[in-house]
Amino acid sequence: PPSLRLAVVPGDGIGTEVVEQGLLVLEQALRGTGTTVTTTDFDLGARRWHATGQTLTDEDLAAIRGHDAILLGAIGDPGVPSGVLERGLLLRLRFALDHYVNLRPGKLFPGVTSPLAAPGEVDFVVVREGTEGPYVGNGGAIRVGTPHEVANEVSVNTAFGVERVVRDAFARAAARPRKKLTLVHKHNVLVHAGHLWRRTVDAVNAEFPDVTVDYLHVDAATIFLVTNPSRFDVIVTDNLFGDILTDLAAAITGGIGLAASANINPDRTAPSMFEPVHGSAPDIAGQGKADPTATVLSVAMLLDHLGLPDAAARVEAAVAADLAERGTAGRVRSTAEVGAELAARVAG
Ligand code: IPM
Ligand code: MN
Repeated sequence: PPSLRLAVVPGDGIGTEVVEQGLLVLEQALRGTGTTVTTTDFDLGARRWHATGQTLTDEDLAAIRGHDAILLGAIGDPGVPSGVLERGLLLRLRFALDHYVNLRPGKLFPGVTSPLAAPGEVDFVVVREGTEGPYVGNGGAIRVGTPHEVANEVSVNTAFGVERVVRDAFARAAARPRKKLTLVHKHNVLVHAGHLWRRTVDAVNAEFPDVTVDYLHVDAATIFLVTNPSRFDVIVTDNLFGDILTDLAAAITGGIGLAASANINPDRTAPSMFEPVHGSAPDIAGQGKADPTATVLSVAMLLDHLGLPDAAARVEAAVAADLAERGTAGRVRSTAEVGAELAARVAG
């Protein structure tokens, strides 16, 4: 778009700090592209909830829909009961805007130290289903607080929902050099959902005959992510398995400070949302310590999604160059210093 309308949700804790830097880099990345950006700030998160009791109103949602994309920092606060902001704000956005592809790269950049002794070349992407699974909240509890309490969490998997995310994952695999797709599930125990996912992968594979498919149970996948992460190219998995695997993926590729994500609505019926994988980190909030790199890499994903792949590549190249030199910096830089450095590199 000639003018990019960006909804900005800084959110809680370090969210505001990293988003500020992400926006500086975005501005530099757009220079010379003919695209300008106008931002609308949305005051959502703990402050708003404390002040008004609101998480995300229908009006907020309608206003957000009028944008081309969303940049989100982080949601969550120790002063708000667990689940209120997560379900009422973050998941509500993902569900309402139909972000069924939660894309999370696991890439070890040169110069970044992995806790693995011999990581090899790590460059995969997790396609985490974003609108179904145990996240839908289709559970309930009875006799709460008594010795006879029963608490159920139900994982919802629909043929429609599984097929559309599996097809997206195949398309991504087909576009990558290695053309390999790994389905991760637990079909030996979760037989109903597991078999639906397997059958769907087999069926869609017929449309992508040049993609090689394999399967891992989620427990085995955690082993291979540590012992042989280079075996992965594209992973497709459900919402909860994907949540867990992508924290592990972040841990082996330099930590949560570098892990980017995109909540994509591939049908473009609503704006997609770009956010670092990390949370609001209340323990370091307000200290200028958070690494904005994950947000900056999420901005690269945003640019790519909006049809600006050259700008996206410039941002990723700036991050790669910065990471390659990090070991030589001699000291830990602040959030603003890293942001300024990345913005300067993007500006060229
Ligand atoms: C993430 C987070 C969220 C999730 C939480 C905050 C609801 O952990 O983006 O990975 O589980 O999806
Ligand atoms: Mn998570």
